[in-house]
Amino acid sequence: MKAKIEAYLQEIQTSTVDKMDDLETFRVKYIGKKGLIPALFAEFKTVAPEDRKEIGVLLNDLKQAVLAKVEEAKEMLENLVQHLESGNDLTLPVNRDLGSRHPLSLVRKQIIEIFSRIGFTVEEGPEIEDDWHNFTALNFPEEHPARDMQDTFFIEKSPDIALRTHTSSVQVRVMENNKPPVRSIFPGRVFRNEAISARAHCIFHQVEGLYIDENVSFADLKQTLMYFAKEMFGEHTGIRLRPSYFPFTEPSAEMDISCHICGGEGCNICKYTGWVEILGCGMVDPNVLDNAGIDSKKYTGFAFGMGIERITMLKYQIKDLRLFFENDIRFLKQFESAI
Ligand code: DAH
Repeated sequence: MKAKIEAYLQEIQTSTVDKMDDLETFRVKYIGKKGLIPALFAEFKTVAPEDRKEIGVLLNDLKQAVLAKVEEAKEMLENLVQHLESGNDLTLPVNRDLGSRHPLSLVRKQIIEIFSRIGFTVEEGPEIEDDWHNFTALNFPEEHPARDMQDTFFIEKSPDIALRTHTSSVQVRVMENNKPPVRSIFPGRVFRNEAISARAHCIFHQVEGLYIDENVSFADLKQTLMYFAKEMFGEHTGIRLRPSYFPFTEPSAEMDISCHICGGEGCNICKYTGWVEILGCGMVDPNVLDNAGIDSKKYTGFAFGMGIERITMLKYQIKDLRLFFENDIRFLKQFESAI
């Protein structure tokens, strides 16, 4: 009898009751008038007196197990009926709250797409960089004050190893490893020892562009950047190049776009000038070409560099750069996108 009780117990524990009909069948099978448990209780009368205590406890446990199972299944099935009657679709996946792309990823992807349409490929370089690629080859002479333009996080001193301060370092690597024509963009993370504020961060993202071939001219640079500005900010966008200085380009310029918020009328985004700065650019300095092993008598080229945060802030009118790094779901959810 003991073995029988144990076998039933096992059966009860492993059986599934997930339909109303099953519940009734289960109930009748075990505790119905002619069920297995009343039969066991009848049989109990034949158990030898010395075994009665032990068997009695087992039998009661078995009955309790059946009652508990019936109660549990009943509650579950009643809930199910209630849900079905409420019109809830229980076949839907539990977690429908899929994430969204980060705005910086969206804009990075868009920049890549725009340039790839005119033949620019994508290359990447290391975030930990040596002095040669981040500074010296880019025509920043040692002790030159231009190095102070970029507050560097050094990892090792002499030889200097640092976190790259700009993606211009990738220019040098790509020129060292490829023969012209070179027509590529280099997106990536850069690092500067700056206090974090609404307008600056110690980690941010840039996209560098480089085009080297015979007879590349400033007009090519201007045309390329005008195309980019219109694709990114709309057909009506105008551009303006202002003379500037970068050690690795000569001549150098900074490019503004006409303010796409006020259309050039003047607003607080463009500080009432009608223009907003979006990037630095210029003709690659012949010293840089020579440093990277490219014959500067034969080839010319242009380069440009832009901050992805800046472009994203302008595009979506985001006023505080720190939002990009806080991972606040309420901010991120606003950028749901199919791409
Ligand atoms: N590397 C510059 C910076 O981080 C941006 C830049 C300016 C890149 C002019 C260029 C360029 O390629 O031609 O501020």
